[in-house]
Amino acid sequence: MKIIVIGAAGDIGKAVCEELGARHDIITAGRSSGELSVDMADRASVDAMYEKAGPVDAVVSTAGEVHFGPLGDFTQDSFMTGLKNKVMGQVNLVLAGLDRVAEGGSFTLTTISACAHTSAALSSNSAPVWSYSASANPLPTPAPRSTTT
Ligand SMILES: NC(=O)c1ccc[n+]([C@@H]2O[C@H](COP(=O)([O-])OP(=O)(O)OC[C@H]3O[C@@H](n4cnc5c(N)ncnc54)[C@H](OP(=O)(O)O)[C@@H]3O)[C@@H](O)[C@H]2O)c1
Repeated sequence: MKIIVIGAAGDIGKAVCEELGARHDIITAGRSSGELSVDMADRASVDAMYEKAGPVDAVVSTAGEVHFGPLGDFTQDSFMTGLKNKVMGQVNLVLAGLDRVAEGGSFTLTTISACAHTSAALSSNSAPVWSYSASANPLPTPAPRSTTT
């Protein structure tokens, strides 16, 4: 399969490329790294990446900026960093790719699930903290497209 990996130069992206590269054709992409230059937060940039890549079978995103820090230090701007860059970046990759990824192809988005808890339950420090875990969530294969007459 021909697969685009966005964020291929990152820690997770490198591992993904090593694993998938043994049996697939990989196109690497990133803002300042990789074969294709793309800012996933910018829909026009994502469109241009797909145009240059040509038809692909799958898209893997291991990219997107988020703010990590103690919950009490989060501001509206901190959240907006992740919403604009990572969340909307992944939305851009899927929406722009719907008609460009092969029938039966897939989008795999690396995400985090975060939960806030008071660390008082875990230690003597009572400040709320973020904890998070990473997971790769393959989306279900889309239903075949149909046309209306
Ligand atoms: N590492 C972890 O333990 C962990 C845990 C949970 C979640 N995550 C999430 O998984 C993702 C990857 O993590 P990582 O540790 O591998 O990150 P990383 O080492 O910082 O690599 C991120 C990669 O994404 C690219 N990138 C960032 N913003 C981009 C954008 N707007 N458009 C295109 N490419 C962009 C960067 O490319 P350039 O350098 O060329 O800009 C870089 O290659 C992040 O979203 C992170 O929040 C990571």
